Amino acid sequence: MKPRKQHVVLLWMLICSGLTEGIEPISTSIAVGMAAALTGFLASYPNILYYFHECCRPEWISFNKTGLQKDLDSKLFGQHIASRIVLKAVNGFMNNDNPKKPLVLSLHGWTGTGKNFVSKLIAENIYKEGMDSSFVHVFTSELHFPHASEIETYKSQLQQWIKGNVTNCAHSMFIFDEMDKMHPGLIDSIKPYLDYYDKLDGVSYRKAMFIFLSNAGGESIIQTALDFWRDGRDRNEIELHDLETALSLSVFNNKKSGLWHTSLIDKNLVDFFVPFLPLEYKHVVQCAMAEMEARGFDPDKDVADQVAKDVIYFPKTERVFSVKGCKTIESKLDYYI
Ligand SMILES: Nc1ncnc2c1ncn2[C@@H]1O[C@H](COP(=O)(O)OP(=O)(O)OP(=O)(O)O)[C@@H](O)[C@H]1O
Ligand SMILES: [Mg+2]
Repeated sequence: MKPRKQHVVLLWMLICSGLTEGIEPISTSIAVGMAAALTGFLASYPNILYYFHECCRPEWISFNKTGLQKDLDSKLFGQHIASRIVLKAVNGFMNNDNPKKPLVLSLHGWTGTGKNFVSKLIAENIYKEGMDSSFVHVFTSELHFPHASEIETYKSQLQQWIKGNVTNCAHSMFIFDEMDKMHPGLIDSIKPYLDYYDKLDGVSYRKAMFIFLSNAGGESIIQTALDFWRDGRDRNEIELHDLETALSLSVFNNKKSGLWHTSLIDKNLVDFFVPFLPLEYKHVVQCAMAEMEARGFDPDKDVADQVAKDVIYFPKTERVFSVKGCKTIESKLDYYI
């Protein structure tokens, strides 16, 4: 039986408006009566609370492929490879009722190219509450795990946190930002959860999603993009295989990177490496236009050009790529509008 809309609204008003507190003095019989009515109501409509409180249910968690495709096409600029891989990976995983392992994506690229932004788009097209969902968890190395001396404590806290949350909801999402700055021991401690285990201590992690963000490999991606640019080739012609070798070599060989020390890569625990290309002038213009629109202004190309001209580009000779990607556009725009 489905609750009628009026009932839902009434109950919502009763519970959330403080109406019950307003009846003063409230007689015991009224209180008992109301409690009984409420209990009866909840017994008749057991699913009612799911309407109001985020739960690990399809009402709150369901993948919107068209939405993600639309967002990637219209909101993410200059990332044709990342866009394609992300859609394919997330769609394949979310449509699989019985995945063999959790989905592990590793997003790599220069600063301000859209790694956090894409994680947000993924979350928004799976969880009704997007990044605010209680099933989406973000960890930042320097914020959550700042002291190398505390590593043992962090390890057990992180393991307990992951276990607790996946027990609570199989479709949990964990985003690890600044993965290249994360202590190798800490990466090692989450490895079992990424692997092909049916269950670990009675908990299955196979429907969870792990997204790692890092700048590791960013320079090798830039080099490939620059080679294409110097050869006069369209950047849309860059294919994943043009970047893959250089990317894995630089991630493997970067001894400072936490990723290098762990066997995350050679154990094939990462399902997809997602490269993010450095952004050019035209992308910065697009970012400025999008930001104006997001603020409710009519996008003005002249203003966007001014913002894009204010940005620093590299390498020094050709000035092709934005040093900070689209990262400072939001604040720069304040000067011009
Ligand atoms: N490719 C892009 N398309 C559209 N907007 C973008 C793109 N890249 C960045 N942005 C904008 O810039 C902001 C900052 O980007 P984001 O935080 O995703 O960068 P990042 O790749 O995570 O950088 P870092 O490596 O420094 O963490 C985003 O919130 C978004 O508004
Ligand atoms: Mg980031």
